Formats: sequence, C-alpha cells, structure tokens
Amino acid sequence: MKIDPHLTPKHSTWLVILLLASIFAGGCGAEEKAAARKATDAEIMKASQALAPIKAQLKQALVSSMQEHGPVKAIDACRLEAPEIIQAAAANGFEVGRTSTKLRNADNAAEGSLATWLEFHQSTPNSDVKHAEILPDGKVLYAEPMFVAPVCLSCHGENIPTEVKSELDRLYPNDQAIGFKENDFRGLIWIKL
Ligand code: HEC
Repeated sequence: MKIDPHLTPKHSTWLVILLLASIFAGGCGAEEKAAARKATDAEIMKASQALAPIKAQLKQALVSSMQEHGPVKAIDACRLEAPEIIQAAAANGFEVGRTSTKLRNADNAAEGSLATWLEFHQSTPNSDVKHAEILPDGKVLYAEPMFVAPVCLSCHGENIPTEVKSELDRLYPNDQAIGFKENDFRGLIWIKL
C-alpha cells in the first residue's frame, strides 16, 4: 500500500492506523482480534494532550541544563531527568517512553507496534505521521515521531565535542545514537493510557 505524499498529516495518520488495523485484523488469535479496534478521534486527542506537557518538560529540562551547565552535565538531563519525568507520568496512570532504531540505551528498544511504526519512519523519514492503536487490554498506545533539532546535535550529531563523546562512551559503550543531522528522524515518543 502506498501512502500519497500529498495527503495531509491527518489523512496519512488515518491511513497508517487503518493499515495497521488491517494487519491485525488478518491475525487469528483472540488478542490480535481485540487489537483490531482503531482508536477513536477522542482517544487520539486525549493521548496527544496527555503527551504534550511531558514533551515540553523533557525539552525544558534539556535546554535549561544545556544553558546552565553545558552539554557534558546536560547528559544527565536526557539520561536521568528523562526517566524521572517519564516515571512522574506514571503517577497519572500513564506509561511513557522513547524508542529508536539507533539506540543509545538498549532498555529503550521497541516492541510490538512501536517496532512496526519505527520501520515505517525508517522508510519514510520525513513523515510526521502520528500513530495510535487500541491494545488487547483496552489501553490506547499513541506515538509521535521526534526529529533532530539543533540542540540535540551536541549529543547525537556528527561532530560531538570530545569531552561529551568520552562521557557518552563511558556511560553507553554500545551507543548507536550518533551521526544524526538536523531534521533527521530520531525516534518515537510514546504514551500508553
Ligand atoms: C546532553 C546530551 C543530550 C542531548 C542534548 C540530547 N540527548 Fe537524547 N539522549 C541522551 C542520552 C544520554 C540518552 C540515553 C538516555 C537513557 O539512558 O535512557 C538519550 C536518549 C535519547 C532517546 C531515547 C532512545 C535511545 O537512543 O536510547 C531519544 C529518542 C533522544 N535521546 C532524542 C533526543 C532529541 C530529539 C534531542 C534534542 C531535542 C536529544 N535527544 C538531545 C543525551 C542527549
């Protein structure tokens, strides 16, 4: 199935949702049947509204830490504060995470539909399509693509400052999340609620 590049993001969102729903509908297990219900507009809206402040908090933590302490110390903003912000969301009953095909932390590896959605973005890197599905347990899984902004480059770019690189190598000996350029697809941020 080909996605028309002229479709608006909203239309292409629906196409992806329908595409995924049809893949699940093709399965034979009861769980796959249950996953076939597509998320309603209201469910998608609720998930994107719940994710918005978390995204803003992550960005704020990163930007202010970069400004105040520089990129080496700011590593903790992406490494420690990110999980903290993400865990705080759990207090509201949400589960939140980030994933990518080029991982820095292997704990962030994608499973299930997140892996399928990542594949979609690998082959369609400029698409800003958002994804949603109803999981077998009735929860909504919603994900948005993240793109590389200038502020990301000192830790994920092509010319990472030496002292940042050596700290990253120390913390993440198998780091794959480098070599990105501005506007590259970096990964997905997701919420389950
Ligand atoms: C100061 C360094 C730093 C900056 C700047 C930074 N990151 Fe990260 N990023 C990290 C670290 C460290 C991790 C690993 C976090 C962990 O252990 O879960 C990470 C992990 C991630 C992940 C999770 C997937 C993975 O690879 O483990 C995503 C997605 C991500 N960053 C996106 C971004 C984006 C988008 C920006 C710019 C808005 C950005 N980062 C800026 C250091 C940084």
